[in-house]
Amino acid sequence: MKAVIIGFGGMGGYHAKMIRQFAASEKEYPLELAGVFDIDPARLQEAEKEGIRTYSSAEEVFSDKGVDAVLIATPNDVHAEYVYAAAKAGKHIICEKPVAMSSAQAESMYDAAERGGVLFEVHQNRRWDDDFLTAKQIAAEGKIGEVYKIESRVVGSNGIPGAWRKEKAHGGGMMLDWGVHLIDQMLQFVKSMVVSVYCEYSYIYGEEVEDGCELSVLFENGVRYKILIATDCFRPFPRWQVYGVEGTATIADWSLSGGMTRVLERQDKKLVGIKAGNGFTKTMAQRSDESVEELPLPVVHAQPFAFYKNFVAAAIGKESPAIRREEVLRVFRLMEAAQLSAQTNEVVKIRL
Ligand SMILES: NC(=O)c1ccc[n+]([C@@H]2O[C@H](COP(=O)([O-])OP(=O)(O)OC[C@H]3O[C@@H](n4cnc5c(N)ncnc54)[C@H](O)[C@@H]3O)[C@@H](O)[C@H]2O)c1
Repeated sequence: MKAVIIGFGGMGGYHAKMIRQFAASEKEYPLELAGVFDIDPARLQEAEKEGIRTYSSAEEVFSDKGVDAVLIATPNDVHAEYVYAAAKAGKHIICEKPVAMSSAQAESMYDAAERGGVLFEVHQNRRWDDDFLTAKQIAAEGKIGEVYKIESRVVGSNGIPGAWRKEKAHGGGMMLDWGVHLIDQMLQFVKSMVVSVYCEYSYIYGEEVEDGCELSVLFENGVRYKILIATDCFRPFPRWQVYGVEGTATIADWSLSGGMTRVLERQDKKLVGIKAGNGFTKTMAQRSDESVEELPLPVVHAQPFAFYKNFVAAAIGKESPAIRREEVLRVFRLMEAAQLSAQTNEVVKIRL
């Protein structure tokens, strides 16, 4: 499969590097970087320096019979027009997340791909993050008992990067940027129906779009899932905290440091009270070593290049697409419920 990247910025450049590495190692499902197109001549020059063929217009890409697929990595408001054109030209499509500006637009893009008879997959790649797979493994293994609460956080202190991510018209804001990923992970993690959503947006940097958000989702099976996205936080939080009825697990960061603490003796016989602040507490005192045990994280590593491999395999009917239409639309509907909650400052009750 020969693919052209449209939009050779940060993420387009990353894909170019990854596809070239994948191409060098993959025999069964070959994917070749056939070129790039970007409206910025400086980016085309950069591509040429890297030995990548450049196209002078999107039309030239779509009319090239040697091109089987396009990978769209432009700002969020420019995904739809390229998806429509690619579908019409009969090219398979990888589109960066968030696929669209709204669930309605996402639906019309999927309809266009179906009409064109092409494969259309959204790059919701954080399903293959090792930290996420490890968090899921913690719940699946059951060493900390049944999981009833999950906290998933990403925090930085750099504000919103770049220009277009700060503007509504381009699909800016942290919900469409990181929210998509963390909500996609959540819906892959908890296999139950969402029954309520509460969300707060932050505007610390005074941009017209949210620079962070805190989302709390309740599932029908009783699991509570909390997401924090912050760009104003100079001190780290654990990436994951997973609460089970028999213990708690922490994945501190993307390098997978952390561990699990499991209860051995529910009532700690050696519990001693402590001075805490201006008072005394047993409730918040540390447990004795005999009452708990420390366990290592059940680390899971994803298959390298899993997304690209599945895309090529799906295009030739050897596998089903890993990221399906209804999953992408469900993420969007949840983001829209979160936005409504943030605007109205109310819990949104839904069945999703
Ligand atoms: N999946 C991920 O992990 C991940 C990570 C980062 C970004 N992204 C997504 O990738 C997309 C691009 O983000 P980025 O960080 O690379 O942005 P960027 O600003 O670094 O790059 C965007 C590029 O698109 C080009 N461009 C703009 N309008 C164009 C047009 N009409 N036609 C062709 N090229 C055009 C720009 O010149 C620029 O080179 C966004 O949708 C973003 O959400 C995904």
